[in-house]
Amino acid sequence: MSIDKQSVTGDLLSEEGFCHLDNAGAALMPRCVLETQIEHLKLEASVGGYEAERLKHDQIEAVYDSVARLINCHRDEVAIVENATVGWMMAFYAIPFAAGDRILTAEAEYASNYLAYLQIARDKGVIVETIPSTADGEIDVESLKDLIDERVKLISVTQVPTNGGLVNPVEAIGVVARQNNILYLVDACQSAGQIPLDVNSIQCDFLSATGRKFLRGPRGVGFLFVSRRVLDSLHPPMIDLFSATWVDANHYELRKDARRFENWESNYAAKLGLGSAIDYALNLGLDNIEAEVTRLADRLRLMLAEIPGVSVHDIGKRKCGIVTFSVAGIAATEVEKHLRDNRVQVSVSSPVSTLIDATRRQLPDLVRSSVHYYNQESELDALVSCIKSISGQQD
Ligand SMILES: Cc1ncc(COP(=O)(O)O)c(C=O)c1O
Repeated sequence: MSIDKQSVTGDLLSEEGFCHLDNAGAALMPRCVLETQIEHLKLEASVGGYEAERLKHDQIEAVYDSVARLINCHRDEVAIVENATVGWMMAFYAIPFAAGDRILTAEAEYASNYLAYLQIARDKGVIVETIPSTADGEIDVESLKDLIDERVKLISVTQVPTNGGLVNPVEAIGVVARQNNILYLVDACQSAGQIPLDVNSIQCDFLSATGRKFLRGPRGVGFLFVSRRVLDSLHPPMIDLFSATWVDANHYELRKDARRFENWESNYAAKLGLGSAIDYALNLGLDNIEAEVTRLADRLRLMLAEIPGVSVHDIGKRKCGIVTFSVAGIAATEVEKHLRDNRVQVSVSSPVSTLIDATRRQLPDLVRSSVHYYNQESELDALVSCIKSISGQQD
């Protein structure tokens, strides 16, 4: 089965002629995701937030089932948090690092993650090392094997980096992590919603993702998966009266499930919106979504590469919906503005968002376009036509 384009575009609320090609920034919510949130906000306004939560208890609980179905885990392994960063940080800072421990990470690692590694390196004397990439650009699993020793405490990688179409081989990395009994954290922020995810195949201990990107959910919500394998042995870096119970003057007990990584207050409209977005994606089928996203992205890369002066910068054997490029002699910000003036929305990826990779490949600011299954070929044509015009080519 393939994606029914007419049906999915019928669920869009964007204006005719507007080309949204910044799905890696924040994708367009389908109508049902918006309506789910509005309905809950109206309920909160009419009966109060606490009563609205009580009335919607079952639907709120069902969001955990939706996340569990999306990534093939148990509902008690899911924490729903404010965003991917909070999820990732709760997992990372729960790991009891000691001086001399090694963290192995990706060259195209996301800035916030790398900053956290550097902080722990500074505070605890942990050593941070990047795993070399293959000639194609993805994490080299053979090099990873060579780096393993008993001091490796954590393998932590971003599956799809913020700065390009690369998909890292997280399953093959998981095999190495499991064989060597090393903690394994996957940042799936840019992959969730555009490619199928299965934490059993990935064999990770933690996986974090956000709502607003390829999942097409609301802003300000994300989730963290924590495997049952490690859940019991990990203490969250911060606790409150939701993640733990105060049992007597000197003691508390942590929750048994992954919600020990949550805190009490939460945006229930966003949470319900996330559930609705995940159900929408599951109904379409993640295999179908990936097939359509890949088809559109491949087509866009080909069209861009044919324009003189345009360089496409995506690396990796397996690629996804993020398409990055530069135009010779024209700053990415200027290209982005020209596109925006012509109702084509993209974003700019700066070298500091993935400094190691950007330095290694000497990348300038990149124009980051990113397709979703609801995009039309005509929208890709509109982008290409703008790039031709700004670079002085005939259309
Ligand atoms: C690879 C990657 N990881 C993590 C994040 C952070 O996600 P959030 O802003 O939801 O915390 C981003 C955001 O762009 C990202 O691209």
